[in-house]
Amino acid sequence: MLQKIIVTGGCGYIGSHTVVELISNNFEVVIIDDLSNSNKKTLERITKITGVCPSFEHIDLKDIEKTKSIFKKHNDAVAVIHFAAFKAVAESVKEPLMYYRNNLLSLINILEFQIEEGITNFIFSSSATVYGAPEKLPITEKNEVQRPFSPYGNTKKIAEEILEDLVKTSSNLSAISLRYFNPIGAHESGFLGELPNGIPNNLMPYITQTAAGIREELHVFGNDYDTKDGTPVRDYIHVVDLAEAHLKALQRLLNKEQEKPLEIYNLGTGNGYSVLEIIKSFEKTTNTSLNYKIVKRRPGDVEKLYADTTLAEEKLNWKCKHGIDEMIASSWKWEENLKNEQ
Ligand code: UD1
Repeated sequence: MLQKIIVTGGCGYIGSHTVVELISNNFEVVIIDDLSNSNKKTLERITKITGVCPSFEHIDLKDIEKTKSIFKKHNDAVAVIHFAAFKAVAESVKEPLMYYRNNLLSLINILEFQIEEGITNFIFSSSATVYGAPEKLPITEKNEVQRPFSPYGNTKKIAEEILEDLVKTSSNLSAISLRYFNPIGAHESGFLGELPNGIPNNLMPYITQTAAGIREELHVFGNDYDTKDGTPVRDYIHVVDLAEAHLKALQRLLNKEQEKPLEIYNLGTGNGYSVLEIIKSFEKTTNTSLNYKIVKRRPGDVEKLYADTTLAEEKLNWKCKHGIDEMIASSWKWEENLKNEQ
């Protein structure tokens, strides 16, 4: 019998790529998603790639009773991978309560009912935003955690603190928190990728939508930072590499290789690219010319963020396989496929 994994937010960007990885490695997957920022069509896309349609539960995880009964129904699961959360930074600044309510109540409900049902393994989708504006680069897991600039980011920090407290109790919980740097890219088939609702906030979907003619012009937020070309530097990581890291974290939990009840890992490549470098690489890879202009800084943006990936390499036995050109080419293939679908 296959081992069952509950994946919340499995219809979303990173969740869906992780579901593909899990199915391809012979796990049975149950997706729980409220479809608030995703689409049921993702199930068809996953099926097209893997030949298997995962089970799907359309549930709002803030709902205590429904969450309780869904965990009872799937109490034969061996782990939960929790992606379901709101993630738009600017929106979280405008609607902090909506973010705290959604991201934290759902987390609390999941943890309560998975523990009640004896499902003791948990993987959390965290973010490099918990490092704030780091003084030391590259960022190791020992870097100080700072108050993130946005309520969105703060929900990630608080969630990790909840986990920290919970593993100290007799809950038997074994948890791994994965701090993502900047996920971009899409599945190599071109059938799965990022599908932002409305106007994208993040750089890569904004670039591909501008090149596809959906957006008129890309705004580059500031070129007066203390970086190689004045634009901010980020550690962009291919979403398929990220998905594979979840698989490795899961195997570590299932094989009981954990050294402490809550482990934390950075997931990045260790390489920093500036916004202008990404644009140049996009233009070169896709042989197009991007319409962009430099505008003023976006409030809350950090100058430089890139990971030290040593810990994940050593303990998860994981390393990124894809370079920046592959990340960009796959994002573009996905965007072009989307255009052809319409
Ligand atoms: C942000 C969040 C991060 C979150 C991630 C995914 C912070 C500090 N960062 O990352 O926590 O996990 O989104 O939602 O809260 N840029 C442009 N023009 C654009 C868009 C972006 O120039 O139209 C630039 C930004 O200034 C930045 C870089 O591109 O320098 C990357 O931006 P983005 O993709 O939004 O990611 P982050 O802000 O790094």
